[in-house]
Amino acid sequence: MQRLKNIIVVGLFWGDEGKAKIVDLLTENARVVARYQGGANAGHSVEVAGKRFVLHQVPTGILHPDKICVLGAGMVIDFPKILDELYGLEKLGIDWHGRLRISPRANLVLPYHKLVEEIEERKRGIGTTKRGIDPAYRDKAARINVRIGEIGLGKVHLVKRLDNWLDEMGTLYEKSYEIEFPSAEKVADELIRVHDILGDSVHEVSSFLAEIARTTGGVLAEGAQGSMLSLNWGTYPFVTSSETTANGVGEGLGMDMRLFDEVVGLAKAFCTRVGNGPFPTEADVQTQAKLRGTGEHTYDEFGSTTGRPRRCGWFDAVVLRYVATINGLDAIALTKLDCLTGIEPLKIAVEYEGSKTFPATIAEIERVVPVYRELPGWHEDISQIHNFKKLPDAAQDYVRAIEEIANKPVKYIGVGPGREDIIIIDD
Ligand code: IMP
Repeated sequence: MQRLKNIIVVGLFWGDEGKAKIVDLLTENARVVARYQGGANAGHSVEVAGKRFVLHQVPTGILHPDKICVLGAGMVIDFPKILDELYGLEKLGIDWHGRLRISPRANLVLPYHKLVEEIEERKRGIGTTKRGIDPAYRDKAARINVRIGEIGLGKVHLVKRLDNWLDEMGTLYEKSYEIEFPSAEKVADELIRVHDILGDSVHEVSSFLAEIARTTGGVLAEGAQGSMLSLNWGTYPFVTSSETTANGVGEGLGMDMRLFDEVVGLAKAFCTRVGNGPFPTEADVQTQAKLRGTGEHTYDEFGSTTGRPRRCGWFDAVVLRYVATINGLDAIALTKLDCLTGIEPLKIAVEYEGSKTFPATIAEIERVVPVYRELPGWHEDISQIHNFKKLPDAAQDYVRAIEEIANKPVKYIGVGPGREDIIIIDD
């Protein structure tokens, strides 16, 4: 049997690059699809039997009947919400039994975390998804959060651990936020109810994945959010709380990074950002409206987790070069090229005035002035084209310009919303 490639798929910008579709394509040559960071803040839209479905925590590989899906130790997991997703999939005829593997080392998002974030966001305005991600990771770092594996240790253990949280953190929050938390007993009961159904799926993941990666290959690590939302490398503090770049794979799945053959980075043909924070190539209101779409199509630029309109702007090649280095990027998947049809001229930021690298601090990022290269647009519908050479010359030139600036090949091009609307450029 031919050894399959082990591949990491990451978003290169601020998330929403259309990862689900490319992951879906690559899953055909994978055995396992593994999420390594984040939690229910992600929103991976997929279409099943003509219906749109958003997966937040379960990897999109679950749609393929023979693939195993892993939720890694680097995630923070809203356990009851996983069950909701699985029941939703069941209604669409998808059988997930025996195909899910959840790391016992993953931390939980507790109801407390969501309550705390709701209040904190009102003051702070990062524009988070309010899925409890930040407080859950914060408690993980403070070594006071609870791991999935602890639910199976029984109610007495769990109530003690949750009571510990309520005594230490809960008291602090109660004082400053006037907040009322559900009792440890109530939270434990709910977690145990879910564990009674999902407990068989809780298994160690690191050696399981290493064995597959070494023998048959076919491990597909599915990143959530995007590199510019990385806690370490993104536009801090307007970032998420996990390592979203390919570097998060070692940490979140407990894997030897040398086992991976390829890092595929997802970039939309233009940039978007949802939530607050600097966005150097954000376009004027009219151009944003054209890029965003009206909201009548599922692929228009409105958040799949929160429904918020996304901010839209020109392709930022300074960011691309920066994240290519951090991710050890091998190839680019460029999505939504069709959404540029009819926009003239097109612009790509090739550098920032006075600096070719991406600055480290918000104050500096807010001051950058992009230098644009203008390119001609095209007006033909490209959504039925499946061969790169058949694209209008201007569309080919746009793709080639991105390749040239990044010095990385574009291997996949999204030209429409459907599963099959992808141009694959062979090696
Ligand atoms: P959090 O991950 O909910 O803490 O949100 C932090 C920032 O990341 C906010 O600006 C969110 O809008 C953004 N964010 C989180 N998850 C996603 C995603 O899956 N796509 C795009 N943006 C995201």
